[in-house]
Amino acid sequence: MEESVEAGAAEELERDPVVRFGRVMERVLAGGIAEPTAMALATCGHDGRPSVRMVLLKGFDDRGFVFYTNLTSRKGRELEQTPFAALCFFWQPLEIQVRVEGAVQPVSTQEADAYHASRARSSRIGAWASQQSARLSSRAELDERVRLVEERFPGDAIPRPEFWSGFRVVPDRVEFWQGRASRLHERDVYTRDPEAPGGWRMGQLFP
Ligand SMILES: Cc1cc2nc3c(=O)[nH]c(=O)nc-3n(C[C@H](O)[C@H](O)[C@H](O)COP(=O)(O)O)c2cc1C
Repeated sequence: MEESVEAGAAEELERDPVVRFGRVMERVLAGGIAEPTAMALATCGHDGRPSVRMVLLKGFDDRGFVFYTNLTSRKGRELEQTPFAALCFFWQPLEIQVRVEGAVQPVSTQEADAYHASRARSSRIGAWASQQSARLSSRAELDERVRLVEERFPGDAIPRPEFWSGFRVVPDRVEFWQGRASRLHERDVYTRDPEAPGGWRMGQLFP
């Protein structure tokens, strides 16, 4: 009985990259790893030149991988022009890299509102004050903007700015890389395939 349950779980792990990602994340969180949810986010505008920066993963499920940002930032503008992104995680103590690629969708207004409301007051003030990725003349300019926002919202009720929201990367390719001796690493790649059981086809790649 035990065995068949485990075999079933292992099968699901093999079949579904999001379930597998969840198992990895459980190990990452249990392992006390610094910035466990940090991921590199690559985007690309009209000019076809990729740009990359770190962001934090704020949720994941069957629908995709969610992060939040300023919509007028460089990444925000690039995602508007080319709604596709790639994510890359690396957890050194586990020697695991995960790469996710797919189309990007905006999260719902309700989702963004709920996440914004959960943030520390200072972060919500910061979201209003920062014209993320625009030229800043001096630190004093930012301090002054923070002061004005503090004045505008003296209490805890700080609405979400409409230029600040989240994106969901809907994966169509997910790769799990496990470091192994002699650089003979393991690479399991999942690609969406409506014909495959569970909707994903899994294969392996040379390291
Ligand atoms: C560990 C880490 C986590 C970060 N998380 C976020 C985030 O969740 N959202 C965000 O907009 N910027 C985040 N940043 C800042 C971005 O890396 C970047 O500086 C900023 O978003 C502007 O990027 P852009 O000009 O390419 O749009 C984070 C930076 C680091 C180092």
